[in-house]
Amino acid sequence: MLRSVNVGLPKDVLWQGRTVHTGIWKQPVGGAATVRRLNIDGDGQGDLGGHGGENRAVFVYQLESYRYWQRLLGRDDFGYGQFGENLTVEGLPDDEVCIGDRYRIGTALFEVTQPRVTCYRVGIRLDDPRMPALLVQHHRPGFYFRVLQEGDIRAGDEIIKVTDGPERMSVAEVDGLLYLPGHPTDRIERALRIPALSPGWQGSFRAMVSRPAATTGNAGLVAVAPPPAWAGFRPLRVTAVEPESSTIASVRLADPDGQPVPAPLPGQFLTVRLRPDDEQPPLIRSYSLSGPPDGSDYRISVKQEPHGVASGYLHARVHPGDLIDVAAPRGTFVLRPASTPVLLISGGVGATPMLAMLYALAAQRSEREVWWLQAARDGGDRPFETETAGLLAGLPHARSHVFYSRPRAALDQVGRDYDSAGRLSLDALRALGVPVDADAYLCGPAGFLSDVTAALVEVGVAADRVSTEIFGAGPGITPGISAVATRAPHPPAGEQGDGPAVSFARSGLTVPWADGRGSLLELAEACDVPVRWSCRSGVCHTCETGLLAGEVAYTTEPVDPPADGDVLICSSRPRGAVVLDL
Ligand SMILES: Cc1cc2nc3c(=O)[nH]c(=O)nc-3n(C[C@H](O)[C@H](O)[C@H](O)COP(=O)(O)OP(=O)(O)OC[C@H]3O[C@@H](n4cnc5c(N)ncnc54)[C@H](O)[C@@H]3O)c2cc1C
Ligand code: FES
Repeated sequence: MLRSVNVGLPKDVLWQGRTVHTGIWKQPVGGAATVRRLNIDGDGQGDLGGHGGENRAVFVYQLESYRYWQRLLGRDDFGYGQFGENLTVEGLPDDEVCIGDRYRIGTALFEVTQPRVTCYRVGIRLDDPRMPALLVQHHRPGFYFRVLQEGDIRAGDEIIKVTDGPERMSVAEVDGLLYLPGHPTDRIERALRIPALSPGWQGSFRAMVSRPAATTGNAGLVAVAPPPAWAGFRPLRVTAVEPESSTIASVRLADPDGQPVPAPLPGQFLTVRLRPDDEQPPLIRSYSLSGPPDGSDYRISVKQEPHGVASGYLHARVHPGDLIDVAAPRGTFVLRPASTPVLLISGGVGATPMLAMLYALAAQRSEREVWWLQAARDGGDRPFETETAGLLAGLPHARSHVFYSRPRAALDQVGRDYDSAGRLSLDALRALGVPVDADAYLCGPAGFLSDVTAALVEVGVAADRVSTEIFGAGPGITPGISAVATRAPHPPAGEQGDGPAVSFARSGLTVPWADGRGSLLELAEACDVPVRWSCRSGVCHTCETGLLAGEVAYTTEPVDPPADGDVLICSSRPRGAVVLDL
């Protein structure tokens, strides 16, 4: 039976000094309520990335679960809508209701689409930050309905099952398949045969069954790669430093004993630890591998940034014979095997990972249609010209188009040195007729990435087939948090801790740990290091971060472990000096 219909519009709530825009506060409706395709009248969601939409129109939670949590948590203060649900129901437990089941309530018809996606806001609503993890661990997530037929419903209505979903997989089971350890492939494949399962969950399950070999971690929640070939840093010998353009130089790194190095995946980066000054903490910087990913040695290609400390040091003070501390190749921006056309698109020094991908395609003598689209300022600024020409010549279906934004009048000749003056714009992509069934890989400055991604989508390339690599801290994910002006990363305010050093590699910041901090995530937030998170309790893996060196201790054990070499920063603290890929 339907015990209560609850609605509420999003509002701003103060939480840990921040403003959260959330619709999780719901109030019971007195009489009849009209259910529409996207919402019940009077209802709304604060963060449409995580909630709401056609597949998550109506959230359902069971009264039996209320009683369960009241007993377990010793609470007696729950009211209808406590879990943010629209419908509080008697019956319909998560371990009996199946994805695809259809129910009639009042004059409306509903279909079960997916379990609730757990996030920190349910922790705020229940004043218990463990709640997102508990809902999953105790198999009581609740579920969403899509509205097949709009109509009116009211408290007291009978809930009548109209049809059984195919495969008979319960909400609790499907939830566990994504979030709990194990992930049996045969069960996931069954879940994928349920047409009613929401596209988002189908995408996660597809990623799990097609995960590349030798990967660890939860491929349904984050991109995964094979574990790093070694832990922390190891010394490699510089064997050559070679100019590539007026501002870019390549540094070759090899095993000091002449052994092969573990082969990276095409597109991965490695991280170096440099000590230009004994008085100062080391510099930790990452560089995409630009050479053939064949394991003979590693090559990075570094652009000398104006006033850049590490790039300046690598250009001026590193010589063959030097030893440099290097962390193993990592990263999930890698060329995926396929037979579809592939677009390798770069701006400036962003050509580095694209070149590694081109090497991989050339080594396979790939039959794929390969498009090399490169943007540079001018001929002096363009790296790898001869090298790419040689690789492209060996591919049967390769095309290349090079853009100079400011060609040098006397030196750069269109048709001979480059193909078009100007930027790699939407019009240019249209004129070239790039194949829309392509997988696109992009690397370059942030503005270049967002412009070219938008242009590719505009010409018809599917957004989920566009992969990007950014040479710095990635954009944060902070669901529902109202925007605040972003500051450059900085040491935390107030008294510095005296614990082990925590280095945020992409942000170029090292600060001491302070025992009062709850987690590495909280320290990163105090430093304005861009972070990604959602549940803050070890379930969703949104905060999963590469641990480049060091060890952590978990304050709450992750529900499902992260990939080897990664860490869930929302629920861990350093056990000594650590370097995070943040
Ligand atoms: C995954 C990944 C892959 C990468 N791959 C590559 C690659 O293949 N090639 C590459 O060259 N880089 C790459 N980078 C970037 C690289 O890690 C460094 O960020 C880059 O070399 C700059 O470091 P730096 O120490 O020289 O500059 P920093 O000293 O850290 O300075 C950062 C920026 O601030 C500017 N700056 C510094 N001091 C001043 C000042 N006083 N006044 C004004 N501006 C200033 C610098 O010009 C620079 O642009 C990659 C980064 C990541 C995360
Ligand atoms: S934020 Fe969800 S696991 Fe860390």
